[in-house]
Order: sequence, then structure tokens, then C-alpha cells
Amino acid sequence: MAIPYRITGGHSRRSPLPLPTARAILAAVITGAVLSILCILSFTHSFSYLGFQPRSVDKRESSRKYLYWGARIDCPGKHCSSCAGLGHQESSLRCALEEALFLDRIFVMPSRMCLSSVHNTKGIIDSSNATSNPRWETSYCAMESLYDIDLISKTVPVVLDNPRSWYGIVSRSTKLGEGDVAHVQGVSRDELKFNPLYSDALLVNRTASPLAWFMECKDRTKRTSVMLPYTFLPTMPARKLRVAARKIKEILGEYDAIHVRRGDLLKNRKDRFGVERSLHPHLDRDTRPEFIKRRIAKWIPKGRTLFIASNERTPGFFSPLSDRYKLAYSSNFSSILEPIIENNYQLFMVERLIMQGAKTFVKTMKELDSDLALCDDPKKNTKVWEVPVYTR
Ligand SMILES: *[C@@H]1O[C@H](CO)[C@@H](O)[C@H](O)[C@H]1NC(C)=O
Ligand SMILES: *[C@@H]1O[C@H](CO)[C@@H](O)[C@H](O)[C@H]1NC(C)=O
Ligand SMILES: *[C@@H]1O[C@H](CO)[C@@H](O)[C@H](O)[C@H]1NC(C)=O
Repeated sequence: MAIPYRITGGHSRRSPLPLPTARAILAAVITGAVLSILCILSFTHSFSYLGFQPRSVDKRESSRKYLYWGARIDCPGKHCSSCAGLGHQESSLRCALEEALFLDRIFVMPSRMCLSSVHNTKGIIDSSNATSNPRWETSYCAMESLYDIDLISKTVPVVLDNPRSWYGIVSRSTKLGEGDVAHVQGVSRDELKFNPLYSDALLVNRTASPLAWFMECKDRTKRTSVMLPYTFLPTMPARKLRVAARKIKEILGEYDAIHVRRGDLLKNRKDRFGVERSLHPHLDRDTRPEFIKRRIAKWIPKGRTLFIASNERTPGFFSPLSDRYKLAYSSNFSSILEPIIENNYQLFMVERLIMQGAKTFVKTMKELDSDLALCDDPKKNTKVWEVPVYTR
């Protein structure tokens, strides 16, 4: 659903209301009442399960200054041919959205997201042909195919930098002259907010770190500086993805879930003595079905329905778990997913909603102290390469 913009800046003069004041006020009151009832209805109906309550106003209507970070989220290579997985890009996007929230500006969001080829192999839905391991032959997808832009805008106002919404703003700002666009680099958030040089500009064009936007949120681990919860973007998938997840959850009934990351994290390399080394030395072992079974026994009782989200492609890999649990995968729901899923990012977003609805959820590796996890290796290891452990 597109919301058309009326661009009215601080410089334009307002014309007097055409309606008599009394009628105008009455109309406004009625419209307001109807809108708020509709809002309340739709929110309690569709978002109570999200665990995060978006505010019920589309903030794009009230604030009309813009913040631009660049045409792409993270652009590591010269031509942005490589990019990180969804989690990394979401960290970056969240960092930018937080700044827009802090500055009370509309965020100009890249209209496409880069799909990493590492994270976009097909075969989860169609598990019948894992040997051919085809790829989704695309390196980008439309942001709107992943996220519900209108839903995001209820918390942080967003426009996409596509012709429909963005070019009009740019041409208007250039017509208005230099003063209305501030090109900045290395200026602090506080200065952008409080120095009139920047705070008065219609558009702040901010050059974000091309390697990873989230570098701009260096204090992001400090809880007090986090304005958006980590659950924010994971609860904002496009409507068709949310609908699919809801259907699947209804079919599953009450269930538990495990997220088993294997392929992408199992990279080993040889050291100078030819010895295999890994950043997550216990991961390969701990994500094998026999170890998973032993590990989760104390958390998930026998006989439960267990939803498994994994990038493991070997057919029947998790079958040994079926003597304890009733196993379910995305591939069990291909009739729901196949018509709507075009890439792995969308699929993972649906799986993530399903995992959020599990009674007990076990991650691959711990992020928070309260998390249950399959493996005790630290997730954020990028330096210490150790000899992998396969024995018990
Ligand atoms: C599996 O993929 C290969 C290579 O793309 C193809 O030749 C084969 O016919 C496929 N098999 C099935 C059962 O779809
Ligand atoms: C933003 O600034 C960069 C250089 O810092 C420039 O290449 C780009 O065209 C600018 N974009 C807009 C929309 O002003
Ligand atoms: C999912 O499919 C597998 C076979 O691929 C089957 O063993 C299992 O029972 C199915 N699970 C559900 C919940 O239908």
C-alpha cells in the first residue's frame, strides 16, 4: 500500500481552510475517531503476537525532514557485489533507523536489499533435489518484498529511495538551494540534532561507513543507547510473509523450535602445519542430530512437535531426532511457501516468525545469557581459530 506524499516544507505558506471552521472541526473529530478505532482494531488484531507494539500513527505525515545514508545498506566491495547476510544488514538498518528516530527525521531507505550468494542457496522448500543445490539467480530484492514499510513507518517514518517517493524530494531540495541539503561526514549525532546548520536542513545527506552501516552505532552494545529493540525488524516482515507464518503456526499448533546454523558457520581452514582450524570448534559436532538430541532433552520433552530451521541441505540429516519428536520443516509447508517465497531472506523471515512463536526455542549459539543454545562456543569469535572437536 503506497501512501502518497504531499511535500510541504517550512517555507510554503498555508492557504486558509475552505470549509467553515465548525464543519471542519466536526469532520476532523469524526475522522480522527474512526481512524483511531480502526488503528486500535488492526493493532490488537494483528500485532498482539509480535511482542512489540508499534505506535499507531504514521509519523511520515508529521515530520517532513529527511535523513539519507546512501543508496545501499553496507557496500563493502567496489561495486557492492558482495554483501553480508540478513542479520548483518538488519543491524545496519536498525542503526540508521535509530538515528532517524533520534533526529526526528524521515529515513530515506534503500529500495533494494543485496542478497548474499552465500546465504541464498535454494533447496529448503524443495528438499527433493538437494544434490543439484540450485541458487536463486538474483542478487537483489525489493525492500518492500521483505518489510512492511508502512508498519515500520508507524515507529520510524521511512520513504524508499525509488522514483515514486524520493526523486521528487531531491529535486525539490536542489531547487530550494544549497542551504536545504547538508552533506555531512563524521558529524556526531548530537551535533546533527542541535546545530541549526544541520537541524534546519530539509535533507541531511550523511555518508555512512560503506563497509558496514552499523559501525556508526559504536556504542550499540550499551543498552541505554539502543532506541529500537532487537526484535523490531524481525517483527516487521511484509504482510504476505506474516500471513504465511501465521498459517504455518496455526497448523503446527503448540510446538518447540531449534535453529541449526551449519553451512555458513562451519568454515574451517588449515594453519601453517596443515592442521584444520575453526572459529567455532564445537559447532559441527554440536549441531549433529545425536548431540542435539542429548542437549535439548532437558528442555524439550519427548513427543513434542519440533520445528527445525536450518541451512543444512543433506536430505534426512535431522531424521535421527524423529524417534523423540514429531519433526517439521519449512518443506512441510511448501504449498504455503512456494507461491510467495522468492529468496532465502524472505524464507528466513518467515522461519524467524515461526521460531518466535515456539514454546521453547533453542538457538545455535547464545546471544543473551537467558538464551538456550545448542553450542557453547562464543558467537562473536572472529579471531581465535581453534582445532575442531568432534569426539564427545
Ligand atoms: C535434480 O536436479 C538436476 C540438476 O538440475 C536435474 O537434472 C534432475 O532432473 C533433478 N531431479 C529431480 C527429481 O527434480
Ligand atoms: C550524498 O552525498 C554523496 C557524497 O557524499 C553524493 O555522492 C550523493 O549524490 C548525495 N546524494 C544526495 C541525494 O544528495
Ligand atoms: C514433515 O515432513 C517429513 C518428511 O519430509 C515427515 O516425516 C514429517 O512427519 C512431516 N511433519 C509434519 C508436521 O507434517
